[in-house]
Amino acid sequence: MGPDPLRLGLLSTARINGSILAAAAAGRRAAVVAVASRDLARAEAYAAAHGIPRAHGSYEALLEDTEVDAVYVPLPNRLHHEWTMRALEAGKHVLVEKPYSRRPVDVDEAFGEADRRGLVLMEAFMYRHHPQTGIVAEFVASGAIGEPRLLKADFSFSLDNPEDIRAKPELDGGSLMDVGCYCVSGLRLIGGEPREATGEQLLGPTGIDMSFRGALRFADGVVGLLHCSFESARTQELEVVGEDGRLRVEAPWRPDWGGAVLVTRGDEVTTIDVPEADSFVCALENFADAIAGISPPLLGRADALGQARAIDALYRAAGTGGPVSL
Ligand SMILES: NC(=O)c1ccc[n+]([C@@H]2O[C@H](COP(=O)([O-])OP(=O)(O)OC[C@H]3O[C@@H](n4cnc5c(N)ncnc54)[C@H](OP(=O)(O)O)[C@@H]3O)[C@@H](O)[C@H]2O)c1
Repeated sequence: MGPDPLRLGLLSTARINGSILAAAAAGRRAAVVAVASRDLARAEAYAAAHGIPRAHGSYEALLEDTEVDAVYVPLPNRLHHEWTMRALEAGKHVLVEKPYSRRPVDVDEAFGEADRRGLVLMEAFMYRHHPQTGIVAEFVASGAIGEPRLLKADFSFSLDNPEDIRAKPELDGGSLMDVGCYCVSGLRLIGGEPREATGEQLLGPTGIDMSFRGALRFADGVVGLLHCSFESARTQELEVVGEDGRLRVEAPWRPDWGGAVLVTRGDEVTTIDVPEADSFVCALENFADAIAGISPPLLGRADALGQARAIDALYRAAGTGGPVSL
């Protein structure tokens, strides 16, 4: 018999909750026991629709719920830090949606608080937990395509709703924050921590970056190009060009959408087998295991800090039009 399921509370009725509810049901390592909304009726309707035992009419009330061990924070980006801090101060472990924050100081403060209280805090980059991601990173690190020279990452789609949280500057919307953060994560996974950032943003009517193009420079002259957009056909891609070959991941950020991992050496193209898995189930299991002391969290302070520093540098570079050192 394994450990008791983690008792998880959802801080809001966000759309992305659907994936966590499905993962909790499929994985059996966590049980969603409570949901909160700014509106009690909305929380109650949501709880009834999803078979969640308790509904709270404020986020504060959920944090006071003594039968909640851990909180999932799927709030708009700008609210991640405030509610993570409040959850930690209430003694809850926290799984917080990506990107945690574009401000490195927030990351330091939150992980410092989690460490002081002996709580687990994890940024929810679900794709990092999928076996495909580990296989790709290990394949490149093994030298199978030689030393990496050029990295390319893209995540784009068409955002049609101007009322979406992603379109609002006051909520830290923007394409780099929403989808570009995956590109930053993937480039850092292969290249390490970047030394310099350059960037260009195309602003929309609300003031957020509708598209962002940038470059991160890593050690040994490795360059990572990134593109993300809210005004493009749905695209996800990660490519590593090495001295001896090329690796292309067709579905790097949402492996569940389907796609191959292709290796090209000369005229020969082969595929790498990847086991099927649900990124959300894997992430929730790792979060629960970290809390139970069974295994360390895959993503901790160093990764969240690297993310925030790179995103901050890219935005600063786009603002000044010149390179920014990290
Ligand atoms: N890991 C992934 O694969 C993945 C995928 C999608 C999204 N995300 C992340 O998850 C987070 C939520 O995204 P989503 O698409 O699920 O968002 P969403 O459906 O718009 O939900 C956000 C929720 O936040 C609450 N909220 C509190 N203050 C708000 C405000 N001022 N304006 C709007 N909503 C407010 C609302 O809940 P109540 O009204 O119930 O309080 C709302 O339902 C984002 O950080 C996003 O980047 C991650």
